[in-house]
Amino acid sequence: MTRRTRVLTVVGNRPQFVKTAAVSRHLRASADEILIHTGQHYDRELSDVFFEELGLPPPDHQLGVGSGSHAEQTAAIITALEPLLEEIDPDVVLVYGDTNSTLGVALVAAKGSVRLAHVEAGMRSFNRSMPEEINRVVADSLSQLLLCSTEVAVRNLEHEGLSVRAVLVGDVMADVALTFGPIADRRSSILDRLGLERGGFCVATAHRAGNVDDPGRLRRLVDVLARAARVAPVIFPVHPRTRARLQAAAALDALELKGIRAIDPLGYLDMTALVRASRAVITDSGGLQKEAFLASVPCVTMREETEWVETVDAGWNRLVGLDPAAAHIAIEELPRPGGRTSPAAEMYGGGKAGERVATAIAERLG
Ligand code: UD1
Repeated sequence: MTRRTRVLTVVGNRPQFVKTAAVSRHLRASADEILIHTGQHYDRELSDVFFEELGLPPPDHQLGVGSGSHAEQTAAIITALEPLLEEIDPDVVLVYGDTNSTLGVALVAAKGSVRLAHVEAGMRSFNRSMPEEINRVVADSLSQLLLCSTEVAVRNLEHEGLSVRAVLVGDVMADVALTFGPIADRRSSILDRLGLERGGFCVATAHRAGNVDDPGRLRRLVDVLARAARVAPVIFPVHPRTRARLQAAAALDALELKGIRAIDPLGYLDMTALVRASRAVITDSGGLQKEAFLASVPCVTMREETEWVETVDAGWNRLVGLDPAAAHIAIEELPRPGGRTSPAAEMYGGGKAGERVATAIAERLG
């Protein structure tokens, strides 16, 4: 009897837990999956709560790498994973996205001569000052199977001479958003808990190093949120990195006076319900740009470029950098929530991306 394909999936932080939720159950129908958590995100609210809410199997191994500089974090992942890879002896290593976990795992798989599959391959901001862009480029160049979320991603890989390894599968995060959106509306009590009316508030998130690590840029980011708060109060679930920077700048306490309500990070269901009920999203996250789009909520993106260009082309997302006036104008000019006519879900694979990832792995690497 031939052995089932053994797939070693490695995840490390919040968006990767969401992505693996779309893939894992399909993968496990035809392959043996071993799940490793690098420990890049370790706080309960950034990690465990996602496993519980999304029904993810608990990780088989924890690397426990924690926080650190890029070198420390990546090196810790490499050092911890190398002996495990030898022990587990997988046929395929599966990674997601563009984080330091993705990078470290890709290097170990490539040097261990294990075939690598990369979900969200081909995403490019063309901004090499972003650590995520470096991580993506390296992971893609080392992968044997490049699983793309969008046609734009496939074209990016064509330009880099990598398209023969590419398969367009759709966006796995969209699968989860489509499945869990209505569930979040029913199950989450976040609107009641925060005393909010549908459409009567904006939701903001910020965590990019390029936006929050420099005190001057952080001040401008707060100005953007304060300007948005003139349209509707801003609910701001604060990422730990951002909270630390705001505290260091003594800027946390002053937010409330500017109409910005800082709260702890939210689990998947609460965050999804909040976004779906909001007037607008203001963010520097990649995932939220899409989640807003899929929920027919306008998005104002605090970056100069985006990997998710379809959301901008469709008229539901605007890039404003850290310009408060541009952010204000964008919120006024973008469509109001609801009333979507463009086929948003189909643009991202119609909820079938996870299944297609499992099929592509079986057909190309099985
Ligand atoms: C990482 C990813 C980013 C992704 C994001 C999702 C990299 C380079 N960046 O950014 O692409 O969009 O995750 O959130 O991999 N911290 C905690 N508790 C935790 C985790 C982190 O307090 O559970 C704090 C630590 O002080 C840490 C800081 O947050 O130094 C940054 O965490 P890190 O995982 O390095 O990067 P993120 O900013 O989360």
